[in-house]
Amino acid sequence: MEVLIGAADIQRRISEMGKQIARDHPEGTPLLVGVLSGCIFFVADLMRAIPIPHEIDFVSVTSYGRSSESNRSPRLLKDLEREIAGRDVILIEDIVDSGYTLAFLRDTLQARGPRSLRIATLLDKRDRRERDVPLDYVGFVVPDRFLVGYGLDYAERFRHLPYIAAITPDEQEAERAPQSSGAA
Ligand code: IMP
Ligand code: MG
Repeated sequence: MEVLIGAADIQRRISEMGKQIARDHPEGTPLLVGVLSGCIFFVADLMRAIPIPHEIDFVSVTSYGRSSESNRSPRLLKDLEREIAGRDVILIEDIVDSGYTLAFLRDTLQARGPRSLRIATLLDKRDRRERDVPLDYVGFVVPDRFLVGYGLDYAERFRHLPYIAAITPDEQEAERAPQSSGAA
């Protein structure tokens, strides 16, 4: 496993992003919409870096599961708990890969008539993009490798790491093997 972005660099960048978000929302109380579960650390740290009043809600969409391939037709597993018509909404993602998840979420939320809809992502795996989605706040542009840590998982593992690391296909295989051998 190779560490690509250290914990201190993540925090430094998030504090810049928080100030930028505050500058872009001089009026009103933006609603952050975290995309579960990968967003948990990012959204928690970002909230503490945004020096203006804001609120939080969450959505959950179908994920890759065990595979590391993109899901071309994501579905909503958990919807928002509040109305967003007329509100300033900021979608908070851990990483944008193919772009299918965010394109779907953006269309879904846009249809509910928010006053504004922006997107913040900690990581942008730009080389893999298949759907064009405008990103308003990007923490780091990252290479086309499978990343874990700081909320990102591989088959639910490694989320707790305080840094972002890349794992090799061999390491992915080693993670998968003991679990699949016991499956029916
Ligand atoms: P997309 O729909 O292909 O853009 O994928 C977005 C979602 O896939 C992200 O929200 C992550 O949950 C997951 N994902 C994409 N790349 C990675 C990765 O390198 N590590 C872990 N999860 C990833
Ligand atoms: Mg995600």
